[in-house]
Amino acid sequence: MSENKVYAGILGIGSFVPEKILTNFDLEKIVDTSDEWITTRTGIKERRIADKSVATSDLATAAAEKALADANLKASDIDLIIVATVTPDMNFPSTACIVQSNLGAKNIPAFDISVGCSGFIYGITIAQQFIENGIYNNVLVIGAETLSKITNWEDRNTCVLFGDGAGAAVIGKVEKGYGILSSFLGADGEGGKYLYMPAGGSKMPASEETVNKKLHTIFMEGQEVFKFAVKIMDSATIEALNRCGLKAEDIDLLIPHQANTRIIDSAMKRLKLTKDKVYINLDKYGNTSAASVVIALDEAYRNGLIKKGYIVPVVAFGAGLTWGAAVIKWSK
Ligand code: ACO
Repeated sequence: MSENKVYAGILGIGSFVPEKILTNFDLEKIVDTSDEWITTRTGIKERRIADKSVATSDLATAAAEKALADANLKASDIDLIIVATVTPDMNFPSTACIVQSNLGAKNIPAFDISVGCSGFIYGITIAQQFIENGIYNNVLVIGAETLSKITNWEDRNTCVLFGDGAGAAVIGKVEKGYGILSSFLGADGEGGKYLYMPAGGSKMPASEETVNKKLHTIFMEGQEVFKFAVKIMDSATIEALNRCGLKAEDIDLLIPHQANTRIIDSAMKRLKLTKDKVYINLDKYGNTSAASVVIALDEAYRNGLIKKGYIVPVVAFGAGLTWGAAVIKWSK
């Protein structure tokens, strides 16, 4: 390893969720479900829902402002903005460009990535390349979603699972030996059919028929996604740990994608981790897709559960199908 190697890590982190809470009991009034079913099958108790007038970029901007404040940086210090989302404000321009304008960060490059729930991990891995290669100093990576806007509120199989929110991190140069030590990304396009939104793209443009058939909402084969998730969560974590010479027993706190406690429990068992080594907040927010890992990371950090030097792997799976894991040695 070269003496001059630059280490990229998190300089600042923040998150933002809408105020409105939708509980399992509220959902009992909308679809044929129960608090008991949702709690035992998913672990979710409530989720946040954005107002009609609130777009993904609004949540993203609020989270970004918190991350910038935490990093003690101004918008003018940022060199690149990456937004991970499957619920962009519109097909184009990118939500990242809208956030750039909101923040007043002039002329810097900005783009979106569509990786489902793995988006934040893909985002920080992209940012890491720019930092380690000396191209940029500070990259803003945001995971933001308003999944409530693409939820079919008549489909009990999906509407109980998702929520809205955003998280952001400023990635920059950190102390030698700290930061993002390794990452492992992957995708299996064959599994795209298990989790998707059929209409609104070039394959099936919006029409009266697509609206009437609710094709602008999430379609999911839950059991297929579940089987994939259970396999990939621990194997991706182990691969990322191997890549930086660490083992599961070195983990101080695992931040998994917050989709379902049964999926997290299974990963926990396979990795032989005790409860105190895994952070879970999906009971409060449901699955916020690309925002899930960064909201959890921010909360765990602010609650004092992450200290300088801690080994904190992040791991997620999502639409694509995609997966990603990264090992962070906390540098703050
Ligand atoms: N309330 C009550 N009953 C329900 C509900 C509900 N909300 N939803 C489904 N059921 C019923 C089904 O109709 C079925 O009834 P049946 O046996 O009479 O046919 C029964 O419950 C069991 O359904 P399953 O689908 O077998 O339930 P399962 O235990 O698999 O749990 C779940 C479903 C929670 C969706 C699970 O499969 C899961 O978590 N999958 C992964 C989903 C996921 O993580 N998706 C996000 C991916 S990330 C991204 O990019 C957005």
